[in-house]
Amino acid sequence: MIILFFGAPGAGKGTQAEILERELQIVHVSSGDLLREHRKLGTELGRIAETYMNDGQLVPDNLVIEMIADRIEAPDAAHGALLDGFPRTLPQAIALDDSLAARGCRVNIAIYVKVSNDVLLKRLSGRWTCRKCGHVFHEIFAPPAVWGICDKCGGELYQRDDDKLETAVKRLQVFHDMMPVIEYYRQRNLLCELDGEQPVEVVTKEVMNCLR
Ligand code: AP5
Repeated sequence: MIILFFGAPGAGKGTQAEILERELQIVHVSSGDLLREHRKLGTELGRIAETYMNDGQLVPDNLVIEMIADRIEAPDAAHGALLDGFPRTLPQAIALDDSLAARGCRVNIAIYVKVSNDVLLKRLSGRWTCRKCGHVFHEIFAPPAVWGICDKCGGELYQRDDDKLETAVKRLQVFHDMMPVIEYYRQRNLLCELDGEQPVEVVTKEVMNCLR
């Protein structure tokens, strides 16, 4: 089962993917998390990606395609994966189709979580992420029990550099260039669109309905 998650920055892709990973026992592959991991480890990919990410721009296709192809070939993705943040361009979508076809698989569903720009900016400016386990909180919508500390693992919470207003606004503009990718899946009757402005549990229910 290959599930794609689409949505603007802050739409709640990561939040929903973490729940689905647990509920469906399917591996969550986030292109953003993988790139941040490379950045933390100081790999060549991480160093190149950093410039683009800090500027709110997309990392070049060839780098991201190779990174995701390697990740979905790992044994834990043998029975499927939930891709969050990939593909974001048509060349990425075509490369994904080719790489899945070579293994006799295909994309089963693409879920598009829709949220308006003003709500997205409120979510990004209030987001806090755990350095250790990656769980996301929000200072108003999903606060931690103890300020600055992750409820799940006790790790330290931090704010992403690319959530600063100026970069967040650029990321929202870049997201709108992704519409041809969303159309690509709509034309193949694989797209399921839902309202991401509802409470987290309601969005999860709608995602589950899409999967059914
Ligand atoms: P990436 O890490 O993928 O970021 P993004 O797509 O911008 O998405 P976010 O992680 O910001 O948001 P989300 O939808 O996961 O929201 P979340 O669940 O955290 O990409 C970062 C960068 O990497 C890109 O800019 C680019 O440079 C590069 N990159 C990545 N993939 C690439 C690719 N394929 N090609 C090229 N470059 C690539 O939720 C947000 C907040 O809202 C949280 O605080 C949460 O608690 C809260 N929240 C969530 N749902 C709800 C709800 N229903 N109600 C109230 N609050 C909610």
